[in-house]
Amino acid sequence: MDRPIGMFDSGFGGLTVARALIDLLPAEDLVYIGDTGRYPYGSKPLAEVRSYALELGHSLVDDFGVKAIVVACNTATAAAIDDLRSELAVPVIDVVRPGASALVRASRSGQIGVIGTVGTISSGAYPAAVTDVAAVLGVDVELTSAACPGFVEFVERGQTTGDEVTVLAERLLAPVRAAGVDTLLLGCTHYPFLARTIGDVMGPEVVLVSSADETAFAARSRLGDLGLLRDDRPRGTRRFLSSGDVDTFRELGSMLLGPELDSTARWPLST
Ligand code: DGL
Repeated sequence: MDRPIGMFDSGFGGLTVARALIDLLPAEDLVYIGDTGRYPYGSKPLAEVRSYALELGHSLVDDFGVKAIVVACNTATAAAIDDLRSELAVPVIDVVRPGASALVRASRSGQIGVIGTVGTISSGAYPAAVTDVAAVLGVDVELTSAACPGFVEFVERGQTTGDEVTVLAERLLAPVRAAGVDTLLLGCTHYPFLARTIGDVMGPEVVLVSSADETAFAARSRLGDLGLLRDDRPRGTRRFLSSGDVDTFRELGSMLLGPELDSTARWPLST
């Protein structure tokens, strides 16, 4: 199937999912839109995020002919996954369910935590997904959630370590530390870029789970079931688009993702 896989995020965070997809499915063509002109999503009303997500989803289908969409953003998943699935005529893979599943499976004690944006945490998407997964697996878990406003802004500035990040992390992670979680899900696709600091603050005994890898596995399994995977060549092409400053996106994106930023262009295409 020679159409690309489409992905979007509010900015650079979805590059963690792109990294995992590129590594797992190197032959696939990818189109990634970073909505950096309108980021952050996490502090905006969910209705506003929903309208952005639908616009991006329709553009990926109509302007780029994608065969599937990976919503590489927890906040957009929380705000719009049902609407995306009902409006778009292609499979839509989300980050919340795969992340929740990995979180529940990884825990030994059942004391688990999730961190995300204000929008994601207030939506209740994770408690709902974790309850479903725990019921399917027949296990008891206790979930502690914490919103981490400010983390995304550090990543978008390219500041992923340092005292300021550590001070903020110590404050924001206090509830999940106090709950004694043994496993913590990074429920925002920007957060893996802060994993070193988050890991240092949580301590070595806490397992960090990233939704990026789990989502890539979910995409491979869904596309495989539908006969939509390609593996007929070593490497596909990757296109990156940004609704913000394209040069900044290319520069910071290459630093965060690596050399795969083959081309970066302006989105929407017509402006
Ligand atoms: N990366 C997005 C997520 O996974 C949100 C970032 C933002 O606040 O814009 O939730």
